[in-house]
Amino acid sequence: MADLATEPIVYSFTDHRDYHRESPVIIAEGDGIRVRDTAGKEYIDALSGLWHANLGFSDAELIAAATSAYAKLPAFACALGRTSAETELLARELIAAAGGSFRSVYFATSGSEAVESVVKFLWLAANTSGTPSRKLVVTRDSGFHGTTLGAGSLAGIPSQHNGFDLPLPFTVRVPRVHFYRDHVDGETADEYVDRIVRTTRERIEEAGPENVAAMIAEPVMAAGGVLVPPDGYWPAMGRLLADLGIPLVSDEVVCGFGRLGHLFGHQRFGLEPAAVTTAKGITGGYAPLGAVLLGPELTAAVAAAADRHGVLGHGSTFGGHPVAAAIARANLRALHERRLFARVAELEASLRTSLDGLLDLPAVGEVRCIGGLAAVELMADGAARRPFDPARRIGRRVAASARERGLIVRDLGDVIALCPPLITSPSEVAEIASTLRAAITATLDEEA
Ligand SMILES: Cc1ncc(COP(=O)(O)O)c(C=O)c1O
Repeated sequence: MADLATEPIVYSFTDHRDYHRESPVIIAEGDGIRVRDTAGKEYIDALSGLWHANLGFSDAELIAAATSAYAKLPAFACALGRTSAETELLARELIAAAGGSFRSVYFATSGSEAVESVVKFLWLAANTSGTPSRKLVVTRDSGFHGTTLGAGSLAGIPSQHNGFDLPLPFTVRVPRVHFYRDHVDGETADEYVDRIVRTTRERIEEAGPENVAAMIAEPVMAAGGVLVPPDGYWPAMGRLLADLGIPLVSDEVVCGFGRLGHLFGHQRFGLEPAAVTTAKGITGGYAPLGAVLLGPELTAAVAAAADRHGVLGHGSTFGGHPVAAAIARANLRALHERRLFARVAELEASLRTSLDGLLDLPAVGEVRCIGGLAAVELMADGAARRPFDPARRIGRRVAASARERGLIVRDLGDVIALCPPLITSPSEVAEIASTLRAAITATLDEEA
């Protein structure tokens, strides 16, 4: 038992009421997809830390890259016209690997900072290109884009705003894409997509497309519930944004670096974003690094703004840290040389097979899988799409029961989210699914 008042850490994204029931998990070491706590208990981490340790917890190449970078140049900044050799090479390699769509990279230290930066760049671009009204950013219900003032404002999750005086008034909120929960009875996936794309158009038109800087969206929403869009969604959204003249910022803090089976998440859907924000898996999670990839228009606008003001008044000490950059370069090499994109296709197939096996449980309403992301949506009556009473905290209790059984997952309300390391084998996926089955069954048996 622990008590928040005596804990030395303010735990983020944690329901602090749980301190009265259970102690924090304190991890001492990791090996492959497993971690061990200070009491010696072992867990499969089916969330890859916080959606970021994509190559597991003991990758020899990433560790070697870090060690040798520390020996060569343990500290430098990417500012004042100077940077480290590793950081410069990483920028070139990212632009080349993206296949010609992007011209420059801005380095940050986190996903929130990358998102915050892209919003500032969009505003800078609006102010320098004679369209100063273009300051609104379109964002979706259930979206998660970080927690700083700007990035947190873009969230479509109430807990990110409650008590923080957010959102700041620069967002236009449009529907999420969650066919299973949000379609009306009898509506097909195509009809549902038509409806939410129509609502998206209406909301943007109410705000005035001439006032909109961009839309930000994850190719697949992760923290919003692992929401896999129906096939027609992104093509229809692409047409809508082109029609309204609104650029897309693809937030790939989770979806980048192999998570959807491609280097970048937007490639899975054939999207052409004006910018990409990324972090987390860019270093396999082994060091903090965020990045914004900027297309030609934004690159030119930021350069013009810097010219006009004499300096680009935005930056940070640790963005593009040389050791993080060296690890990110090793991660890029690993993704290609170890054929990890093909491995993610296999992971997707084994997640699908193993988790679909849970659909015989009455409490499992839907299973969603794409690349190395999956969700099991728990419902009081799955067929009738009747949710559990939130007061029962079923998802929270299933996650706690899984944890007791040596499995780390994330409860997002009554959605159990899985984001296992990309190296997870089919037999490990089967183990994850059978432990999750035991956790769901035991939680519901408790109530029977
Ligand atoms: C899509 C998305 N954007 C941004 C962020 C913020 O990243 P960070 O936690 O590195 O600030 C997250 C974090 O989970 C995310 O999932």
